[in-house]
Amino acid sequence: MSDDIYREIILDHYRNPRNKGKIENPDVSIHDSNPLCGDEIDMFLKVDNDNVKDIKFDGKGCAICLASASMLTEMVINKPLTKAKEISKEDILENIGLTNLGPTRIKCALLSLKVLKMGMVKYYSDKDPDTAEKIQTDSKLY
Ligand code: FES
Repeated sequence: MSDDIYREIILDHYRNPRNKGKIENPDVSIHDSNPLCGDEIDMFLKVDNDNVKDIKFDGKGCAICLASASMLTEMVINKPLTKAKEISKEDILENIGLTNLGPTRIKCALLSLKVLKMGMVKYYSDKDPDTAEKIQTDSKLY
């Protein structure tokens, strides 16, 4: 796809974010911020039998940050958590079509993935500490 199409997709997700909001009584809720700008993302998940039944995000950030969060929710909703566990930094950058971002913008694009992975560490920490530790190790990539 051309850069223009990717730019349009990012703007569309930024202006019409998917799965934005909060979930009452979530199974997982997690918050983090981008230390470079202070922008913040909250993520809420409902999990049933290790499937993501619902996911919502909230927060403030730049277009790349919020578009990336919106796209990420679409990647994991109604999917097994095992799929979400495998989403990599490269998957996100490829998904938003920005593979040559500078380090500052990479943090914008990856904030939501970091939050999701932190949420998964929290979710697994009681149930399956080995899996929690593996996700934690992978998340240090960012
Ligand atoms: Fe803050 Fe992008 S400038 S997340």
